[in-house]
Amino acid sequence: MGKNEYAKPDSWSLKAQKEGYPARSVYKLQEIDEKFHLFRHNFQEGAPLFKALDLGAAPGSWSLWTLRKIKSAGFVTACDLQPLSRTFDKGLFDGGNFFFLQGDMTVPENYAKISGTGPFNLIISDAAPFTSGNRSLDTARSLELAENALHYGETCLRRGGNFCVKIFQGGETAGYIKKLRLMFGTVQTYKPKACRSSSFELYAIGLKKKSG
Ligand SMILES: C[S@@+](CC[C@H](N)C(=O)[O-])C[C@H]1O[C@@H](n2cnc3c(N)ncnc32)[C@H](O)[C@@H]1O
Repeated sequence: MGKNEYAKPDSWSLKAQKEGYPARSVYKLQEIDEKFHLFRHNFQEGAPLFKALDLGAAPGSWSLWTLRKIKSAGFVTACDLQPLSRTFDKGLFDGGNFFFLQGDMTVPENYAKISGTGPFNLIISDAAPFTSGNRSLDTARSLELAENALHYGETCLRRGGNFCVKIFQGGETAGYIKKLRLMFGTVQTYKPKACRSSSFELYAIGLKKKSG
């Protein structure tokens, strides 16, 4: 599919809205979780608080899905340059177990605010640059965001914690995966079915951080 693929809502987007999510990307996280069990944790009453960090969170589907999954047994920190959509959250984004920072995840002052809400059991990053159509430029920008997400992974993900990051396939992907292998017990890349067929994005998943 070409340019028009993004022009009108497709069946995934319509399904997302019907099911209470602002974006189709929710099904990517759902599928990744089904396959890799990112949220492997005991959510019973009395279990320690599960903390998740959602980078590049707007319009908010991944945060909403995470909040609905962990309920009151966890805390979600989210960050995006853009505001979150308030159409579907039914007040969840106003809850005491959610913190949203509107700003650039890569700048030190925001790093300090975000890391201050950790350490995290899970870091998910769907952050993506505004695409220019120049594949090598877009890939390089995406890698910069992925490197940044990895910095959060290195510094504020708990030992045993899981990590999931969007990357655009290209140039330095192999080098990035190598770094993940040093940090995590298991590393895999995966392209969920809900990704647009024309998109060159995929997700790198790191499970069980080796040190904390
Ligand atoms: C594909 S969207 C995320 C969709 C989201 N996971 C959801 O389910 O609703 C990618 C997001 O990355 C954000 N982004 C890009 N660069 C960023 C940065 N430097 N800091 C924070 N967010 C960034 C964009 O603003 C955009 O909202």
